[in-house]
Amino acid sequence: MEDLIDKNSDQDKGKKGRKVRQTPDSLQKFRSVVARAQEGAGADKVAAQKAKGKLTARERITYLLDENTFHEIGSLAVTRCTDFGLKDKAILGDGVITGFGKINGRDVAVFSEDFTQLGGSLGLTHATKIAALMDKAIASRCPMIGILDSGGARIQEGVDSLDGYGHIFRRNVEASGVIPQISIILGPCAGGAVYSPALTDFTFMVEGISHMFVTGPDVVKAATGEQVDFDTPGGSEPHSSKSGVCHFVAKSEPDCFRQVRELMSFLPQSRFDRPPMGDSYDPVDRPVPLLEKICGINPRKSYRMHHIIWWLADEHKFFEVHQNFAKNATVGFIRLGGEVVGVIGNNPAHMAGALDIHSSDKIARFIRFLNCFNIPVLSLIDVGGYWPGVEQEHGGIIRHGAKIIFAYSEASVPKISLILRKAYGGAYIAMNSKYLGSDFNFALPSAEIAVMGPRGAVEILYRKDIKNAPDDQKEAAREKLSQEYADKFASPYQTASTGSIDEVLEPCTVRHRLIQAFRLLRNKRVPGQSTPRGNIPL
Ligand code: HXC
Repeated sequence: MEDLIDKNSDQDKGKKGRKVRQTPDSLQKFRSVVARAQEGAGADKVAAQKAKGKLTARERITYLLDENTFHEIGSLAVTRCTDFGLKDKAILGDGVITGFGKINGRDVAVFSEDFTQLGGSLGLTHATKIAALMDKAIASRCPMIGILDSGGARIQEGVDSLDGYGHIFRRNVEASGVIPQISIILGPCAGGAVYSPALTDFTFMVEGISHMFVTGPDVVKAATGEQVDFDTPGGSEPHSSKSGVCHFVAKSEPDCFRQVRELMSFLPQSRFDRPPMGDSYDPVDRPVPLLEKICGINPRKSYRMHHIIWWLADEHKFFEVHQNFAKNATVGFIRLGGEVVGVIGNNPAHMAGALDIHSSDKIARFIRFLNCFNIPVLSLIDVGGYWPGVEQEHGGIIRHGAKIIFAYSEASVPKISLILRKAYGGAYIAMNSKYLGSDFNFALPSAEIAVMGPRGAVEILYRKDIKNAPDDQKEAAREKLSQEYADKFASPYQTASTGSIDEVLEPCTVRHRLIQAFRLLRNKRVPGQSTPRGNIPL
């Protein structure tokens, strides 16, 4: 391998050993080295990769980036370890391609692990290349995208490869909240390797191709006797719907790269920038008839919050995050009047939109991401409370639910709420209520804002009266008292009278009012409040 990268070849020296201009020979040598670096591990390995339905590491970069924008760095770095047969297997690039390119005309740093070279395993050179790239991305304030396809720590390199992950994890944390970080899992991702993606902001997986686990099937079998396949603990389905590790699932690799590019269109380059403005041809004062409909339906009837979001958003475009995880909350990106807005909604179609452990984590982490990257927050509220039960209490709903309160209170970006129907009790307070520091709190005429729902309130306030009523009149008493309670509280007017709601809106004006309010808040500054230092995994 040394002969390929020997810079002091005699061909490059003049009579007295002085350097002279490059000769055609040196150029020829250079070109052959570059060609070897480009060709990777050879036809057999590439065929094996293709047989698994996977693209090569270089093809992936081509799909991800704008055409002809990739500039590679570190292509000639070589595996340094020679133990356990690595001397003969040493490879140019050390199993990872690193460099810079553009997405939608904007700079990004990207690395792509090459499974055909030593299983994409991470040795010291491999890790050093990724770490150096991350340093440059942080310094030049551009997003970092990692494409992972690796057997994990390179076993032959021992502790050096474990330390390699240490280098990367530390930089993931340094970059957190400073530049957007995206992980694309396109193969195995095992052992400690999963923790770098977990430290980044968003993780993508592809059905049937991506796997993430701390302990793979062999270790599970040895430790517990349980026989599992790759998909059960680590496929895209469990990680996108149960663990919440994965934010986006794609059907194929090209579909995945399309989704990454779309996500990037909503993100700023760094915490020092604003997200890109879009060209919107959607009239700012377009009415949203669905909101009028909400005012007329039975308050117990469920609906998908997605419909409200689609109708509010410019061109009806909603880029949903965590689509399959904690479906009782709906979060993602939209544009309003061209400006990027992060939207958070309770989703009555799932668990009546109640807050639980998973949705608390989902909402809180999303708010914290938005706050790091100067993206305003719109909260669409229809929530009866926290999901009750021993399972939730023992699982720590108090600890997890508190994260929403922390995230909203901490966020200094513009924050606006619209209460559509229910906003009861602790969930009313947690969901961006006025005194958590919200900028504007709007409500539809259908809003019901109270400590709890009428039936529950009446059972507590009038327990004795109901108990003492004759059996055949108990239900009528409940109904009458519930109605009295509802007349007082099941409207936004009591709350508007105290200033906790800024304005009750005519439904057909909502889109216009929201756009006006976000424009007003565009240069919002909160004295003494700084951007948080990092987007810790919650
Ligand atoms: C060195 C590795 C490797 C590794 C794979 N290879 N993983 N080499 N270190 N970790 C090599 C194989 O030897 C093989 O080399 C080539 O990559 C392809 O691997 P195959 O096994 O043939 O491929 P496949 O059948 O597709 O299986 C892929 C795999 C399996 C599921 C990833 O290789 C595997 O289980 N690897 C170990 C995964 C693991 O336990 N990683 C955790 C390491 S510890 P040849 O020369 O034959 O082509 C860890 C802790 C980090 O990561 C902690 C950080 C804090």
